[in-house]
Amino acid sequence: MDYKKLIADSISSALEIEAEDVLRSIEIPPKQEMGDFAFPCFQLAKTLRKAPNMIAVDLKEKLDIPEIERVEVMGPYVNFFLNKSIYLEGVVKKVLEEQADYGSSESGEGKTVIVEYSSPNIAKPFHVGHLFTTVIGNSLSRIFKFQGFHTERINHLGDWGTQFGKLISGYERWVDKEKLQKSPIEELNRIYVKFHEEAEKDPSLDDEARQHFKNLEDGKEYEYNLWKEFRELSLMVFERVYRELGVEFDSYAGESFYGDKMDEVVDILEEKGILTESNGAKVVMLDDYNMPPTIIKKADGATIYATRDLAAAIYRKRTYDFHKNIYVVGTPQALHFKQVFKTLSLAGFEWADDCVHVGFGLVKFPGKMMSSRKGDVVLLDDLLKEAVVTAEKIIHDKNPNLADKENVARKVGIGAIIFTYLKNSREKDIIFNWDEILSFDGETGPYVQYTYARAKSILRKNEKPEQADLTLLSTQEEFELSKTLEGFGNAVKVAMEKYEPSVITRYVLQVAKDFNKFYNNCQINSAEAELKKARLQLVEATTIVIRNALELLGIETVEEM
Ligand code: ARG
Repeated sequence: MDYKKLIADSISSALEIEAEDVLRSIEIPPKQEMGDFAFPCFQLAKTLRKAPNMIAVDLKEKLDIPEIERVEVMGPYVNFFLNKSIYLEGVVKKVLEEQADYGSSESGEGKTVIVEYSSPNIAKPFHVGHLFTTVIGNSLSRIFKFQGFHTERINHLGDWGTQFGKLISGYERWVDKEKLQKSPIEELNRIYVKFHEEAEKDPSLDDEARQHFKNLEDGKEYEYNLWKEFRELSLMVFERVYRELGVEFDSYAGESFYGDKMDEVVDILEEKGILTESNGAKVVMLDDYNMPPTIIKKADGATIYATRDLAAAIYRKRTYDFHKNIYVVGTPQALHFKQVFKTLSLAGFEWADDCVHVGFGLVKFPGKMMSSRKGDVVLLDDLLKEAVVTAEKIIHDKNPNLADKENVARKVGIGAIIFTYLKNSREKDIIFNWDEILSFDGETGPYVQYTYARAKSILRKNEKPEQADLTLLSTQEEFELSKTLEGFGNAVKVAMEKYEPSVITRYVLQVAKDFNKFYNNCQINSAEAELKKARLQLVEATTIVIRNALELLGIETVEEM
């Protein structure tokens, strides 16, 4: 039931004004004492030639809405108090009916949204920053799908570029083949770091590496085969991480995929007359937009990162005819994407406006740095392992007899990390604090999972009510909880519009808080039989909403912990 609309319609017919206008001005009061909805009368003073306070008094007299228990005039405001029982019944029934679909919509039907995320660089460690894009992108793709869109999840692997020349040179000199098979990325990264150290002493190494990359671009077999091996070994490691996180992709078309699609980019830009020469390089000037030029081809004829992104965008439009093309990439690359989108738009592609860069902040581990060239990174594998081991200790202390502790610890540990990443608006930096992240109370993943498990255990211990008279629910705690449950669909919509999973993280925290308040203040087991049935249904509705919300964040639930 859309109460806001119901109220707006009644006001509109009582005052003979446009329902649309009324709907826009209805507010949600900041305090419960002021009701559930409020309608300010100031803006009507002119048209009705009456003082706002008087309009409010008259309006109150004219209204009669069964779903509204009470209407109160407070100065220039008319405040509406919902009939709690009717409201509660409506919300709980809807959740129980719709189950896993509760909160979803069909607004995206027939449209495709591309969510590009993760996109790590081959032969380099998957670090904690890549985890940020991975969990945001995973969540966004789930949110869009829940809104009815078809989604295409793309991992734009960093699998092309001059660094592969360096790797080949380093490989020839220093590789330990056994280590390469055992922990490929570590070994490749060691070689890469060593290359840089050695090249500082002997610059001829750089020339050799450049030649290797040139050969690779020209399709020479020797370089190609090595590159292919690096790619496959790296992907194996990445896929292990993705499996652990429950993350999937529809495509791994990375930078190398566009190798044969870049000549066309150059042709298109040339045809449009926007390609110019600058110190031997081919560029698109963006002075008029206060940006440095987009380099399309370097003086030596090599294409770069931006050229590949232009080719990728054009390819995606052709292949998927996207409604939105979303790039989940750290905020330091904001300028790069602005240049790419502007270049597309200058080339006459109107859909450039449907390309969206979704940025995010930095991840900080007090005391540790994150630069892969220096080799002192916080590896994702270590991070996840640490989370699971710590979660297992905590769970063991709390509930030593729990069955399947390992599996629960895995879900809680990984869930805690994902939750931390998605808790605040994405542009904010994250500072990791283990004690905080894994705490069972506080704004954490374990807190929400624990709330869910607790609710589930209540349901397990009682017979499932066939029928319940939900109008028996009437306490303030029950009302607050159901109001929060009712807001799920809107939270999903806002999260989608802002590309902001944290809206859902915040939302599910609120559900958990409201549930715990209800649980602490309203008896379930000792309640009178009929009331107990109704409360059990409210508990069940809560578990459905928590589960649906965590699912959108990419976090698993546990039945017991
Ligand atoms: N591989 C890049 C990195 O690790 C991110 C790629 C972002 N996506 C893109 N279409 N440029 O920094």
